[in-house]
Amino acid sequence: MRSHYCTHLSESDIGKEVVLCGWANSYRDHGGVIFIDLRDNTGLIQLVCDPKDSKEAHIIAAGVRDEYVLRAIGKVRLRGEGLTNPKLKTGSIEVVLKELIVENASEPVPFVIGDPNVGEEVRLKYRFLDLRNQKAYETFKLRSKAAIAARNTLDELGFLEVETPILTKATPEGARDYLVPSRVHNGEFYALPQSPQLFKQLLMCSGFDRYFQIARCFRDEDLRADRQPEFTQIDIEMSFCEQDDIIKVAEELLKSIFSTCGHEIKTPFPRMSFKHAMETYGSDKPDLRYGLEMVEAADLFLDSSSELFASIAKDTKKNRIKALKVPKGDTFFSRKHLKELEDFVAKFGAKGLGYFQMKEDGLKGPLLKFMSEKSISELIKRTDLQIDDIVFFGAGAKKTVLDYMGRLRIEVANRMSLANPDELNFLWVLDFEMFEVEEGKTKAMHHPFTMPNNIDAKDLEDITSVAHDVVLNGVELGGGSIRIHKKDIQEKVFNILGISKEEALDKFSFLLDALKFGAPPHGGIAIGFDRLIMLLTKSDSIRDVIAFPKTQRAQCPLTQAPSVVSAEQLRELGIKINDKKDK
Ligand code: AMO
Repeated sequence: MRSHYCTHLSESDIGKEVVLCGWANSYRDHGGVIFIDLRDNTGLIQLVCDPKDSKEAHIIAAGVRDEYVLRAIGKVRLRGEGLTNPKLKTGSIEVVLKELIVENASEPVPFVIGDPNVGEEVRLKYRFLDLRNQKAYETFKLRSKAAIAARNTLDELGFLEVETPILTKATPEGARDYLVPSRVHNGEFYALPQSPQLFKQLLMCSGFDRYFQIARCFRDEDLRADRQPEFTQIDIEMSFCEQDDIIKVAEELLKSIFSTCGHEIKTPFPRMSFKHAMETYGSDKPDLRYGLEMVEAADLFLDSSSELFASIAKDTKKNRIKALKVPKGDTFFSRKHLKELEDFVAKFGAKGLGYFQMKEDGLKGPLLKFMSEKSISELIKRTDLQIDDIVFFGAGAKKTVLDYMGRLRIEVANRMSLANPDELNFLWVLDFEMFEVEEGKTKAMHHPFTMPNNIDAKDLEDITSVAHDVVLNGVELGGGSIRIHKKDIQEKVFNILGISKEEALDKFSFLLDALKFGAPPHGGIAIGFDRLIMLLTKSDSIRDVIAFPKTQRAQCPLTQAPSVVSAEQLRELGIKINDKKDK
């Protein structure tokens, strides 16, 4: 129906007759001459309708309102002196209407397209209108290009794209499953995959050698700005490989995606052990765009006059005392700010927040009185403390201290705007602990199919895994590992996790079978595709880069999902609801 897209026209088209299609973005009547900004997915162009040029078009234009769907036929001309709009790509030209066709009218829309002040709930309810804005279109264009780049690169590297089932059995990524009841097998359920993990391992056992999929994953977990219940991974698995091979493939893939999207990135990415990341940054996904490194200070409190600090300092296996120096932090943070930071860390289990302030007239701070002269001077040396700096302290149980000090580090960096928003800082985190204990329960830090380095180590904490996470600007972009391909190691891991033989057989018998029949050494990685696009487009929320996302409460305001289903459907499925919601 069209000859051109709106913003593909330029001064070189002056004099040409063109046919444009799109929506009326805005409408102005200037003393009989009507101006309509016509919008398509490339942007805007101004249509001018003067009754002198076409009476019929003018009558139709007078009836046009916001979001009417139009087909406009007219001639491109240069805008008059002083009438150019430098904000528009087509700001120096306009199209003089010869004919105007209203393809469809629109009721008054609930919000102005692209208005940044509209609440998210309303935008998501009318997502089809929300997506009419140019920024959204550009985001999805980039998303599409990134997916195509990923496919092409992996194809060139010899990977085969294979689809794995959506209606399946529970997969072990640690979140809750979404369940789908079976009509044919009353009382039985499919689980939606939390990832294609087990199937991609089976494909390796089938000898496919290199697999990938741009895979949809489902996890019923608490949502955050970078989490959705339904999300996409670029999922990869390869056989006869070592960790380095997987890292190289992932780097090549990311390099190609970023390059397609206009960013040249440097590979190889730096690498860091999980232990170093936790001890120095209090996080397994540190943002290294800024320094703010924590130093160990327990030894400086061994001679403390505070019994509490001295006793914490003694047990370095269980406890930590960490010092976080913030250059110029003393001039930045007022007393009120310091109280806010104390309240902030309290939310994560801190019993207080000690600090030293380096003033022109010497060191000040509530913690000073508990420390010996010798320890104070050692701390000044260790943190290279300068005038106007502040040092924060965290003391207590290792896990709690590392966690809240890590969060404090990020909070301080945010408040001081320390991160360069234009920098892309990639990092590999390696040598994860294989197991973690949460609420008394031993869990796999990645998943139970991750290859341990030293499964027979005496102390659980000392068992590390051949796992790798790729981090970008403090966000976990992807994760993977070398897998266990031998049955006896897999059994040992299940044993440590308290998964009985019967339970293992019930849940993963197909994988255990596959391990019996000649499983090759294999491993892989999955890159969070939504997170990748979120970081590439500098979006604040993952919802901005998903066409039809769920809210923080895992609902879809557009379709009203999840929703109550009919009694008939439930009967067919053999399901009875106890606490029935009124609807
Ligand atoms: P993992 O659970 O680390 O690994 O997931 C890989 C990447 O997927 C993204 N991601 C999410 N993105 C949005 N919303 C979510 N709820 C969400 N959860 C995870 C993250 C994460 O780094 N099977 C393994 C991969 C493997 O071992 O090969 C897995 O799924 O960016």
